[in-house]
Amino acid sequence: MANKELNKKPEELTILLPGGAGYIGSHTAVELLDRGYKVVIVDNLSNSSKVAIDRIRQITGANDEQLVFIEADILDRPAMDKVFTNYSVDAIIMFAGLKAVGESTQKPLEYYWNNVGGALTLFDVAREHGCKNVIFSSSATVYGEEAQVPFTEELERGKTTNPYGETKAMLERILTDFYLADDEWSVVLLRYFNPIGAHESGLIGEDPKGIPNNLLPYVAQVATGKLKELGVFGNDYPTPDGTGVRDFIHVVDLAVGHVKALEWMAGKIGTGEPIGRGSYQGPVSEDGTRHGVGVFNLGTGKGTSVLEVVAAFEKACGHKIPYAIKDRRPGDIAVCYAACDKARDELGWVAQYDIARMCEDTWRWQSGNPNGYEG
Ligand code: NAD
Ligand code: UFG
Repeated sequence: MANKELNKKPEELTILLPGGAGYIGSHTAVELLDRGYKVVIVDNLSNSSKVAIDRIRQITGANDEQLVFIEADILDRPAMDKVFTNYSVDAIIMFAGLKAVGESTQKPLEYYWNNVGGALTLFDVAREHGCKNVIFSSSATVYGEEAQVPFTEELERGKTTNPYGETKAMLERILTDFYLADDEWSVVLLRYFNPIGAHESGLIGEDPKGIPNNLLPYVAQVATGKLKELGVFGNDYPTPDGTGVRDFIHVVDLAVGHVKALEWMAGKIGTGEPIGRGSYQGPVSEDGTRHGVGVFNLGTGKGTSVLEVVAAFEKACGHKIPYAIKDRRPGDIAVCYAACDKARDELGWVAQYDIARMCEDTWRWQSGNPNGYEG
């Protein structure tokens, strides 16, 4: 069956967001709705809340036709079939997945089953319904621990260090193989660096269940007094202050990156030149829709250390963040930041927000919602 063409007005396109109730998906839904796209969110709420959907409506004013929410598991094939039967999905932005690196080493079967098995179930149903347009949430983790900064899309995928990272590498390969076997597939692999921050309204943000694994949610909960002190994992890395350096990117910038990827797929922007190793330029539909595989980093290109983050957050919240230096966390690399020129040149996308703004927005969300969406 032929693939859906995308070079239409946003109002004429329906975008499916599996995992769209989550942190990055909810912010992307807002950016899509603000531009007139119709959005269908499918989420099993395993790591999110239905309140996020109400908040997306509150921010965007979207009605029930513009934004549809379906509580379902992507592994549930009949439920997915129903989604594609009831809604004419033009493209998928695939966020659904489990994402805790440490937990993935304890529960590899659950991670491969959910992330890979779930994605395969969904893509098979999508294909049956003639939708072969996929934007996939990949991660800088696919570059592996040996890669030298800045990470460019020209680098080969490296050796992953945990099952979570491996599901990202596998799905990049799987989606590429789909295209190589059938050139109607249109795939964009977006390699996120470290998303933080929240929507400026303070209504949606990151709401991890239990004790946070990641730096920003942890710092934010220390700032509200929910947690006592931050453990800084190592101060003997070969970095200016000895602490780990990451490319933190505002989640709203990241969300806009997805809209750009969709416009690129539709042939509305960019040249369609193959982007880096593992990318392919395929046939272009009559309407301009591009087929192939595009690979883009989404980061700022700037590294910020753990202690610099702490200082920026102290400024945002107006008081000290207690911290203690701890041992290095196994599996962490010293420095990670992106080369962003491909996304700039081809998608016309450049991150707008700096670390100060990222911390201010995180603080607005966290202080307004100290217990996340649960009140
Ligand atoms: P998140 O946990 O907030 O969102 C993922 C959503 O998927 C959740 O709402 C969860 O309930 C849902 N989900 C999980 N399994 C499902 C299933 N079987 N069926 C239906 N829904 C399911 O995470 P996020 O930070 O928004 O990340 C979104 C995507 O981006 C994930 O694939 C993640 O691996 C990837 N990513 C995230 C980061 C990061 O640092 N946040 C970095 C790189 C890549
Ligand atoms: N850190 C601390 N204390 C904490 C939490 C983190 O010092 O309590 C440090 C880490 O050691 C690291 C930095 O803060 O130096 C960032 O750690 P995060 O856990 O916030 O993020 P990571 O870079 O380890 O992981 C992120 C995503 C993963 C993804 C990975 C590689 O969460 O999904 O980037 O792209 F796989």
